[in-house]
Amino acid sequence: MRVLLYGCGDFSHVIDYLNDTMQVLKLPPFVPFDPNADNPHMPVDLVATELRALTDLKQQYGDRVEQNITALRANGVNVALGVDATQGNSFGPFDVIIFRNPHAGTYGNSQDPGMSSYLESSTDNHTLFSGVLENTRLNREPRGLVLITVVGWPYVGTHPKGKIGLTGLQLEVPDYAAAYGEPAGLEFVGHIRFGTKWVARNTGDTFQAEELGILYRDNSNWLDPNIVEHILRATSPAELPAWINTHPDIEKIKAKIATQH
Ligand SMILES: C[S@@+](CC[C@H](N)C(=O)[O-])C[C@H]1O[C@@H](n2cnc3c(N)ncnc32)[C@H](O)[C@@H]1O
Repeated sequence: MRVLLYGCGDFSHVIDYLNDTMQVLKLPPFVPFDPNADNPHMPVDLVATELRALTDLKQQYGDRVEQNITALRANGVNVALGVDATQGNSFGPFDVIIFRNPHAGTYGNSQDPGMSSYLESSTDNHTLFSGVLENTRLNREPRGLVLITVVGWPYVGTHPKGKIGLTGLQLEVPDYAAAYGEPAGLEFVGHIRFGTKWVARNTGDTFQAEELGILYRDNSNWLDPNIVEHILRATSPAELPAWINTHPDIEKIKAKIATQH
């Protein structure tokens, strides 16, 4: 299974974060590469990327960036810098594409009487969010999964700033989340509520917030249930395609197989 991570910031906690997410998606975990194993093999091949170049990252976060990247590479992770999630860079195709907490870096300022920075933030992040979805066309498998997690403003309209008339992107509303996916050829599968998490700002500061996952899948036609049944029978659980649990008939197909044993 191939997994792509966008916008990894200072590359802290990448594997722990990925494995928590893979567990929620009912997918196999990333296991570090072990050249001494009898049969060296990585069931999850991970490419972890970030927009900024190493010099910018070191200036922002200090030495920990290089230490984090070195540790990831030693574990068999492919790390790529200067990767813009909104354009080009097709390393694909990937079974799962994840961007945790994308942010264009524009923050609102409560001292701003015109609130223009809030609006700017909402517009920039609208462009980022829709640009990332569109660009996954270059990188995703048919029926592949795209997960973007968001925290608060401007993605979630229930944020207190909504009370002063700023709606943000309102991605917590299923119709709005679905409408963002459609032009990119993505079907909205559903929200995933990760609960309260420590999350990072672009600056590297961390804070606690409710993390909301917006899960899409490439809208290529579903495979016929008979083919899905065959895949389920013929494939070990760790090798199943990432999309399989989002197939609309999956529970029926599993129940059918269970009655035959
Ligand atoms: C709020 S930080 C989150 C960092 C990390 N994902 C995390 O959750 O710890 C947002 C990240 O998105 C990156 N970013 C912003 N625009 C991007 C783009 N167009 N392509 C890729 N990454 C981008 C920033 O450089 C930053 O690292």
